Amino acid sequence: MHQSVLLHEVIENLNLAPGKKILDCTLGGGGHARAILEEITPGGKLIGIDQDEGALSIAAGNLKDFGDEAIFVHGNFRNLNSIFNKLDIGEVDGILFDLGLSSLQLEEKERGFSIKLDGPLDMRMNKRQKLDAAQLLNSLSELEIADILKRFGEERFAKRIARAIVRRRPVRRTRELIKLVVNAVPYKARHGRIHLATRTFQALRIAVNDELESLSSGLDAAVRFLKKNGRICVISFHSLEDRIVKNRYKDYKMKNILKIITKKPLTPQDEEVLVNPRSRSAKLRVAEKV
Ligand SMILES: C[S@@+](CC[C@H](N)C(=O)[O-])C[C@H]1O[C@@H](n2cnc3c(N)ncnc32)[C@H](O)[C@@H]1O
Repeated sequence: MHQSVLLHEVIENLNLAPGKKILDCTLGGGGHARAILEEITPGGKLIGIDQDEGALSIAAGNLKDFGDEAIFVHGNFRNLNSIFNKLDIGEVDGILFDLGLSSLQLEEKERGFSIKLDGPLDMRMNKRQKLDAAQLLNSLSELEIADILKRFGEERFAKRIARAIVRRRPVRRTRELIKLVVNAVPYKARHGRIHLATRTFQALRIAVNDELESLSSGLDAAVRFLKKNGRICVISFHSLEDRIVKNRYKDYKMKNILKIITKKPLTPQDEEVLVNPRSRSAKLRVAEKV
């Protein structure tokens, strides 16, 4: 089961009311979407996008009681322009991005996202995409792999890990990769709060799904389709994402397009982290169209 993160904070900050039109760019299982629909119906509309068809059909099932007040779109939010043009949606009153993976994706071992479960090195959010993590690791040069681990995982031992991968490839399973990473890290550095392979997994996932480029393009398009006084809420889960959101908001503030509502990002209360440890690193930034 996926537990929606910072749910009350999102609902409060989107300024919802019956009749409003809201865009959920990361529908997942539809947890945030349900809470939004409860506030905007009757008369409102929720447009839910996800690049994972599995997530989309779960959400459609979970939200079927709202009938055609919810619209489901399979696509990447980086293509918001074409999605909006095709559906003739016009501007919306509020937009949500709840980035990263859902628990549904993480818990499905065949997707290869989890360091806790053995699975194929897949990591594609959109199963129609050709490139997966195994192809990436088994075809790129040592230098290119090290660069991915450094840039997208801020991994200190990127070079050593890349060398170990290239020496032992082909690598096909998550368990094989974890073993390679752990052995590549020097003994004296094998401690710490997070699993030694966490940064490698994060980096690969970002690279496979081109997540940072998608976020930048998605944010730009979203701001364009937001009505005057409409709110945008973005929940990020690591510093690379949060930096992009923070800097994009700042740019738009300078151009007098957005007003920043959260000077500092909102983070979950201790109670939320206790019941949902996944929320630990969440940061919510809210802005309003001027
Ligand atoms: C954290 S989950 C969303 C959970 C949802 N808010 C809920 O409460 O159930 C993130 C979802 O966004 C989707 N996603 C991530 N990046 C995407 C992108 N660039 N375009 C479309 N969907 C994306 C993932 O497939 C995943 O289902």
